[in-house]
Amino acid sequence: MHSLRKMIIWSSCLIFSLSYSILVFASSPAKHMCRSDQRDALWEFQNEFHLSGMAPNEKTQRWLNNTDCCSWDGVSCDLKTGNVVDLNLWGSSLNGSLRSNSGNLSYLTHLDLQGNGFTGELPESMGKLNQLTKLLLSTSKLSGNFHHALLNLTELTWIDLRSNHLEGNLPSNMSSFSKLVHFDVGSNSFSGPIPSSLFTIPSLILLNLEKKQLQRSTVDFSSFLHLKSLVLLDLSYLNTRSLLELSLFSKFVSLSMLDLSGNHLKISSSLHLPSPLGSLSLASCNISEFPNFLRKQPNLYYLDISANQIEGRVPDWLWMSELVYLDISKNALTGFDGPKDAIQTSPLEMLDISSNTFQDPFPLLPNSTRFFSASDNQFSGEIPTTICGLVSLDTLLLSNNRFIGSIPRCFKSFNTKLSLLHLRNNNLSGKFPEESISVGLISLDVSGNQLSGELPRSLINCTRLEFLNVEDNMFNDTFPSWLSLLPDLQFLVLRSNEFHGPIYSLSFPKLRIFDISKNIFTGVLPLDYFANWSAMSSGAYVTDNKQERFMGFSFSNYHKSVVLAIKGSEMELLGSGFRMYKTIDVSGNRLEGDIPQSIGLLKGLIVLNMSNNAFTGHIPPSLSNLTNLQSLDLSENRLSGNIPPELGKLSFLALMNFSNNMLEGSIPRGTQIQSQNSSSFAENPGLCGAPLQETCGGGEEVYEVIKEENDQVLSWIAVAIAYVPGVFCGLTIGHILTLYKPEWFMRIFHSFA
Ligand SMILES: *[C@@H]1O[C@H](CO)[C@@H](O)[C@H](O)[C@H]1NC(C)=O
Ligand SMILES: *[C@@H]1O[C@H](CO)[C@@H](O)[C@H](O)[C@H]1NC(C)=O
Ligand SMILES: *[C@@H]1O[C@H](CO)[C@@H](O)[C@H](O)[C@H]1NC(C)=O
Ligand SMILES: *[C@@H]1O[C@H](CO)[C@@H](O)[C@H](O)[C@H]1NC(C)=O
Ligand SMILES: *[C@@H]1O[C@H](CO)[C@@H](O)[C@H](O)[C@H]1NC(C)=O
Ligand SMILES: *[C@@H]1O[C@H](CO)[C@@H](O)[C@H](O)[C@H]1NC(C)=O
Ligand SMILES: *[C@@H]1O[C@H](CO)[C@@H](O)[C@H](O)[C@H]1NC(C)=O
Ligand SMILES: *[C@@H]1O[C@H](CO)[C@@H](O)[C@H](O)[C@H]1NC(C)=O
Ligand SMILES: *[C@@H]1O[C@H](CO)[C@@H](O)[C@H](O)[C@H]1NC(C)=O
Ligand SMILES: *[C@@H]1O[C@H](CO)[C@@H](O)[C@H](O)[C@H]1NC(C)=O
Ligand SMILES: *[C@@H]1O[C@H](CO)[C@@H](O)[C@H](O)[C@H]1NC(C)=O
Ligand SMILES: *[C@@H]1O[C@H](CO)[C@@H](O)[C@H](O)[C@H]1NC(C)=O
Repeated sequence: MHSLRKMIIWSSCLIFSLSYSILVFASSPAKHMCRSDQRDALWEFQNEFHLSGMAPNEKTQRWLNNTDCCSWDGVSCDLKTGNVVDLNLWGSSLNGSLRSNSGNLSYLTHLDLQGNGFTGELPESMGKLNQLTKLLLSTSKLSGNFHHALLNLTELTWIDLRSNHLEGNLPSNMSSFSKLVHFDVGSNSFSGPIPSSLFTIPSLILLNLEKKQLQRSTVDFSSFLHLKSLVLLDLSYLNTRSLLELSLFSKFVSLSMLDLSGNHLKISSSLHLPSPLGSLSLASCNISEFPNFLRKQPNLYYLDISANQIEGRVPDWLWMSELVYLDISKNALTGFDGPKDAIQTSPLEMLDISSNTFQDPFPLLPNSTRFFSASDNQFSGEIPTTICGLVSLDTLLLSNNRFIGSIPRCFKSFNTKLSLLHLRNNNLSGKFPEESISVGLISLDVSGNQLSGELPRSLINCTRLEFLNVEDNMFNDTFPSWLSLLPDLQFLVLRSNEFHGPIYSLSFPKLRIFDISKNIFTGVLPLDYFANWSAMSSGAYVTDNKQERFMGFSFSNYHKSVVLAIKGSEMELLGSGFRMYKTIDVSGNRLEGDIPQSIGLLKGLIVLNMSNNAFTGHIPPSLSNLTNLQSLDLSENRLSGNIPPELGKLSFLALMNFSNNMLEGSIPRGTQIQSQNSSSFAENPGLCGAPLQETCGGGEEVYEVIKEENDQVLSWIAVAIAYVPGVFCGLTIGHILTLYKPEWFMRIFHSFA
């Protein structure tokens, strides 16, 4: 069997066998008529939430009043009594507070309400569900404390409150949960001590306290020792100053998955962990040497020791294990020990060595490799053709190295498999060989090289392509209007090349980022030019799960619950931050004629840059319909007439530039406009009024000053800032903003400082 699949099945088996031991009977749908009081309670429950009817998984939307509630989607009853025992409304778009009225479902044994939008605190009445064995409320927006009413639920074996906004201390006496097997409160904002009573529950198998903000007082980790049957332990990012001795964990003989990332770890050189670990995460633990104890862990399939300070070379004994997933990125490693083909004997499928100082020789990888990232290292010479033998390769990331020469023609051996190819910032030259394009490409980034000639026409066959960046090369071609045949294209960056000629009318239904700046494009844009750019026409962000593929290692495609169980739901959040970003940059070309009215259709647009062209005519008033716009640059054109007063309404518009045109009349009022530097309006002989020095004559028109809703602006910006650490294609949002709009980005940061 494929070893990755083996690993995933193995880990899902672990997690689901835990749940099955508890579920046992609940899975069989009952045909018994449900009791009317139970039906009414369910009906009332669903009425508490407003549903859009749009989301595919709104189970309660399909419930029919006056039918047997035991047949309702997500509801299971006890066969004998007709009592509702299992309510599973996982991901059903239930937004709002959980109210107390549904107390009447007191026979519930399983309650799965994960992945909804619940807000506020859990109701006191929760404590009446005293038959409950399984309570799943993860990934919502619940706030408040760990409700004491829960302590009443003494039958609970499974508590999952992961990824909410819960805070405060955990109750100090949790011994009433005497049957607990799975306790997951990771990714909340709990603080205070870890209750020692938790460690007196011998049945505990999974314990996730990830991101618990422990008190500064020392933490007595030795209390964990009671938990002899622990299989999975996640204590990552505890925010404690305590030094964690890894040897402590040698007492756990059943431990199979251990995550201590983000803690300050002490590993003695003689350490031995007797338990055969399958998965170990020690990222950001301030480790400076390659952990020697791993030598005696032959069953390890998943190892993450990224973001440490490990120096030297990767030992070759590592390849004797079962390693399938290895992340040693963000260290100070320089090379690989042992014979040249040492790695080739391992079952490795995913290897991330990015952000180190690896130098040649380039490693020889096993044929099983599917993901390989060696970005941000010091590899040089031509891209080794040995890579082409990796026929299973799905992702190849070699950005920010010193590769020279051309893109190997033998890339054609990847054929359909390769979906991510990033060769950004190397010194590759020559034409992009037609045959090197894999039909399966989703993301192609060859920016920052010296590639020349035409864009390979074979890209037309990449029907899954979403991301294309050829920025900063020497491509000499006409506008690739044939790309509009690619139905999923979202990100097209041709910036800084020698593209020329007109940019024909076309439809880019999913395009969100369009940057053709700094080329030699000419001609007039027809009025309806932007008519068919539907993705930019809406303020909503693209909800396409495929984006998660771009975020480096991600198991979400293979098994979402594994990701969630191990790492919380953070990854999805990162993706959505990027998905909100919509921009058009055609600056630095030789475009002429009117700015098309149809620009006003792109209501989702956040950045519009049409500067440094030869546009004439008036600024289209339809621009005032771009209510999400935050940056508008029309400088260095030949625009005439007034600045449309409606632009004063755009309350998010933090940066604008109208300088170097032939505009006239008074500058419109509006808080955002008035707060601009006068240079934004300079070099327009006929323009007058603040912020320029020139006052307007007697005929000055006075426009209504539109009060900007500061809170709203700030909250949007806060969202943007919150997403800044998000990683996408090796770029952060911050990165992208600094790339496209350095001033704007700085400005936002300053407004927070
Ligand atoms: C709960 O059930 C009791 C009787 O069992 C009934 O009187 C009461 O109205 C029910 N409450 C709700 C909210 O359905
Ligand atoms: C619930 O909230 C989420 C995010 O805030 C939103 O996407 C979804 O449409 C909302 N669902 C309903 C039914 O309003
Ligand atoms: C559902 O049925 C109950 C009783 O059968 C009735 O009282 C209630 O009004 C119905 N609700 C709706 C929304 O039809
Ligand atoms: C706790 O459970 C008992 C029954 O076992 C019930 O009478 C009591 O109301 C519950 N307490 C809370 C706070 O819900
Ligand atoms: C903890 O609570 C249990 C009942 O849930 C009680 O029997 C026990 O005495 C309490 N322990 C402490 C130390 O308060
Ligand atoms: C990392 O460890 C070194 C000593 O090995 C210590 O000086 C340094 O403060 C530690 N850094 C952090 C962030 O704990
Ligand atoms: C790996 O694949 C290449 C090309 O398909 C093949 O020549 C080579 O023998 C394979 N190596 C191993 C170890 O299977
Ligand atoms: C890039 O490669 C060219 C030859 O193709 C060479 O002349 C140039 O110096 C290289 N630049 C860098 C920064 O290595
Ligand atoms: C696209 O694929 C078809 C079928 O494989 C092939 O005949 C055609 O030449 C390809 N087009 C380009 C531009 O490479
Ligand atoms: C682009 O290529 C054409 C020939 O195909 C050539 O005439 C032209 O000078 C090139 N443009 C640049 C900027 O190199
Ligand atoms: C937009 O799409 C419609 C229908 O597909 C088409 O008739 C029209 O020509 C397109 N307009 C532009 C500017 O591409
Ligand atoms: C803005 O959009 C609305 C409809 O969405 C349209 O009726 C209106 O004419 C547009 N305004 C301008 C100035 O184009």
